[in-house]
Amino acid sequence: MSGGVYVSVCVWVGLDTLGVHDCVTSQEGDMRSVARVLCQTHLLTSTTLSMHTKCRGGAYPFTKDKVQRVQIPDSKVDWDVEFAEYLPPCYTAPHILAAPPYADPEIGAAGFKPRWNALDGRVSRCSHVKPYDVVDGFPRNVCGRTGVAGRGALGRWGPNHAADPIVTRWKVADGKAVIHEKTRKPILQFVCIQRRDSGHWAIPGGMVDPGERVTTTLQREFLEEALNSLEMTEKQKEKSEKQLKELFKGGVEIYSGYVDDPRNTDNAWMETVAFNFHQDDLQGVLYSMLLHAGDDAKAVKWQDISSTLNLYASHEDMIEKVAHRHQAHWSRNLAVLPTCVEDPGGPSSN
Ligand code: BGC
Repeated sequence: MSGGVYVSVCVWVGLDTLGVHDCVTSQEGDMRSVARVLCQTHLLTSTTLSMHTKCRGGAYPFTKDKVQRVQIPDSKVDWDVEFAEYLPPCYTAPHILAAPPYADPEIGAAGFKPRWNALDGRVSRCSHVKPYDVVDGFPRNVCGRTGVAGRGALGRWGPNHAADPIVTRWKVADGKAVIHEKTRKPILQFVCIQRRDSGHWAIPGGMVDPGERVTTTLQREFLEEALNSLEMTEKQKEKSEKQLKELFKGGVEIYSGYVDDPRNTDNAWMETVAFNFHQDDLQGVLYSMLLHAGDDAKAVKWQDISSTLNLYASHEDMIEKVAHRHQAHWSRNLAVLPTCVEDPGGPSSN
């Protein structure tokens, strides 16, 4: 890996060319046919593995330091690199072994015959990244070794699919957009929640339920976590949904793929599809709507976007893409602004 750098490349793709992506959003007929520019992080080359760092090394989350990951040097993350002495501890959290409805049974359990790399009934076991290997009956993390086997705190073997709504507006003072004094660019704000499980600030995303459309998950999670719809009356909920209808019609996909989530293991990992829902109107509904944390969120706020953000998993990377998409303020240090190069095509562009 070249000094911990990963490469961001703008690629022209039609969703149909992504293949595996189709599997997850196969019901999203309205979005599939549209070719568009996705600014994607290439995960499959050795220069990209720095993406896979928060789920390597140290203690596994929520285990009070009792489950320690095996240390893996950058050079040995890739499954294809020989690592004979690699013997990760196997850990699946007790609450997952207790078989909640969203979790798979253990591999080998009677009647559990998962269809890997496929739509398995209503559960998508496809990766957005690439078809994954299944070794001795266990799916292998698409981004390489993590230092712990089993499912950890994740319910599904293989990919666990989430969706992340990035709801943005311009920062306003006295009715005008606020311009950053150094970069001279307008400042964007997004709805940011504090996760109840880890305390990290994050995008208000959540898991895609079996058979659920990603567009439904995006809206549902936003309503539950940022507006506390679970505690609203039906009438209040209807009103909020109506207010947000236009905004949620105009979503733009920002990212789909692997997430460097601290819960990932060798056999279970997080993937997400992130959409940006942006309101340009400085007097639009997002300025009057009251945020109220609910469900898995313990706090919620409008957060100014800049490179100083420190968010859960890979959420900063997604927010950065949104800032660039709107030509908003990001970095105080103009010299480090990333450049997007047009992908020439060829074997490395998946
Ligand atoms: C969160 C998503 C996040 C995903 C991967 C889910 O628990 O709700 O916001 O992208 O995990 O880290």
